[in-house]
Amino acid sequence: MSSVSYENAATAALSSSAPRILQSMLALDDFEDAARRGIPRPIFGYINGGVETNASLRDNRAVWDELQFIPKTLIDTGDRTLATTLMGKHYDLPFGIPPMGGTAMACADGDVALARAAARNNIPMVVSGAALTALERVKQEGKTAWFQAYLPGEDDVIKKLLERVEKGGYDTLVLTVDVQVLANRENNVRTGFSTPLRPSLRLAWDMAIRPRWCLSMLRHTLTHGMPHFENMGPRVPMISGLNRQAGRRDRLSWKHVELMRQLWKGKLVLKGILDPQDAARARDAGVDGVMVSNHGGRQLDGAVSPLRMLPGVKANAGNMAVMMDSGIRRGTDVLKALALGADFVFIGRPFLYAISIGAEHGAQHVINLMRSELMTDMALIGINSPKEMRPELLIDRRNYDWQAAGVSKNNQ
Ligand code: GLV
Repeated sequence: MSSVSYENAATAALSSSAPRILQSMLALDDFEDAARRGIPRPIFGYINGGVETNASLRDNRAVWDELQFIPKTLIDTGDRTLATTLMGKHYDLPFGIPPMGGTAMACADGDVALARAAARNNIPMVVSGAALTALERVKQEGKTAWFQAYLPGEDDVIKKLLERVEKGGYDTLVLTVDVQVLANRENNVRTGFSTPLRPSLRLAWDMAIRPRWCLSMLRHTLTHGMPHFENMGPRVPMISGLNRQAGRRDRLSWKHVELMRQLWKGKLVLKGILDPQDAARARDAGVDGVMVSNHGGRQLDGAVSPLRMLPGVKANAGNMAVMMDSGIRRGTDVLKALALGADFVFIGRPFLYAISIGAEHGAQHVINLMRSELMTDMALIGINSPKEMRPELLIDRRNYDWQAAGVSKNNQ
């Protein structure tokens, strides 16, 4: 089945002018190498890397293979749909784009490219608190945008940001809770990434061999001015670095979540929850949703893969929406996550790789591929809607119980 068969008219019109290189991107994993060839090494390393030994990064990908489907046959799946309801809103697909601070480094005006693609396809895109694009502008460009905040444990800073986000027209606010401190990203040092980027011969060479990226960034800077961290208190030029304005994030605690719940009238989501007991605490604090996430393996090395924690979080979630990210690359990954308790998932790095290749076209291509895979997979599994995914459609191949499955009885 071709990857364009489920496009609507608007997306088909866009894909007719897409760069040719996208035609050779047949799956989300294909974007990574193409992006590596287009983005300067330190920036690619920042996006691609995890933390310390990359243990969580690796397991986020390995975990999917532990599960296998038990498809149901002879089910009429002719009416299948990917439409999904999340926190009272209707979306056309069961996945969205999570907050990523590196978006405008992967692609000039990358936040806007993602916001437009998300809005066109009626899926959420979450603007990062570390974005280089003002949250107000992103919301104007893409009405389905949510905002994600990095906040210190300081009431005044929290109140100010919440007022600004509300004024900016947002109805969904995501608080990231797994960034108490900056992680030990030694891979950034190895690839020469820092904010600001420190001038060196190596950096000059890394930039010189990526002229297309350099030119597009130069053009964007000439028209939009020097990049700034726009969404974390006062504007700070990117060249002076992010750390200065982070504040005491290690002092952020449940009492600040309670304050935010009092002040914020829209939907409140906590991102970076892994412990089912934290999910119960979020539920009791009146939070609307949790994103089960280990930050794409970028914070605590060895933090458990979110998929493993989904059933426990779901059990404690009450009426909260359960979302997840970290490691999703296939339609089958999405369906496995939905079977284990997720209501919705987020796909990160492939979108950054894709916009580095084809800006908005690249993001659209990722969405088309995932939509196509999901429609195919649902027919082959025997379901008509993402919400029909349930644990009985999966086995864990590592501890499959052959006896319970009837092998010993059948052989007698
Ligand atoms: C930002 O959230 C990052 O992981 O770099």
